[in-house]
Amino acid sequence: MKTANWGPYSLDGKSAIVTGGAMGIGFAIASRLVEAGANVLIANFNAAAAEAAVQRLGGDPKRVAWMQADVAAHETGAAMVARAVEAFGGLDLLVNNAGIYPIAPALEMTPEFFDRVIAVNLRGPVFAAQAAARRMIEQGRGGRIINIASVDGIHPSMVGLAAYDASKGGVVMFTKNLALELAPHGILVNAIAAGGVDTEGTRKMQGTAGADPATAAATAAAASIGIPLGRMANPDEIATVAVFLASPAANYMTGEVVVVDGGMLIG
Ligand SMILES: NC(=O)c1ccc[n+]([C@@H]2O[C@H](COP(=O)([O-])OP(=O)(O)OC[C@H]3O[C@@H](n4cnc5c(N)ncnc54)[C@H](O)[C@@H]3O)[C@@H](O)[C@H]2O)c1
Repeated sequence: MKTANWGPYSLDGKSAIVTGGAMGIGFAIASRLVEAGANVLIANFNAAAAEAAVQRLGGDPKRVAWMQADVAAHETGAAMVARAVEAFGGLDLLVNNAGIYPIAPALEMTPEFFDRVIAVNLRGPVFAAQAAARRMIEQGRGGRIINIASVDGIHPSMVGLAAYDASKGGVVMFTKNLALELAPHGILVNAIAAGGVDTEGTRKMQGTAGADPATAAATAAAASIGIPLGRMANPDEIATVAVFLASPAANYMTGEVVVVDGGMLIG
């Protein structure tokens, strides 16, 4: 993929990891990072999807790589960092994107359900960030960590997402505290609180949540009620904000939670 002149948004030569980068928001972020000049490792639970994503991004092993990973396992953080260093010689950016949003009312959920949501959405990002930051400190050239949170980490959107909301609320506060700790090392830590985004995951969720699954348009229309901009985001509308936060254009931002929700929280 040819790199454009991205000016203050250029990521030329930077090395990045995107968890859950095989589809949805993660794939959109991986695509824009590559376009802005970064080399990207896609670490994804579904290996076949990760390999296919790397092919869609041009397949050049100097620019894109993949590995099978379950972010819920705490050792995955160090394994992802090692793979990125092996592929690209270092690490400048971690995007903690992989996440799940299964639905269960708080009165009915099991401890196993709760633990899995927390393990993937909160514990995973925490230990991936720890491993990434250790490497970045060793390299001595700063770095960036971007956590994909959710408006649900700030304000609940629906019954059934109590575990999810707890996990994303945790991501929001982890982002802020880690930013404080890593600031002296020049490592900037920010989060994106996304609103409704039309992805493979949300289409599946809307289908199982009782909304009319007949067409993607119908589910998207149902989900966009209460969004002042009148529609869900497309994944690229989250990805361009991630590029901004990864770039020199955001050199003075850390500990921030950027809400990208089409106005949902003010609606
Ligand atoms: N789509 C939305 O409306 C929305 C809104 C706010 C926040 N988010 C957050 O954005 C992130 C991405 O959401 P999406 O809608 O693109 O999801 P998606 O389900 O469309 O894609 C998720 C990707 O992550 C991978 N993945 C899932 N569990 C994993 C694990 N344990 N380890 C590694 N990879 C794993 C999947 O294989 C898939 O490639 C999530 O953290 C989600 O909570 C999404």
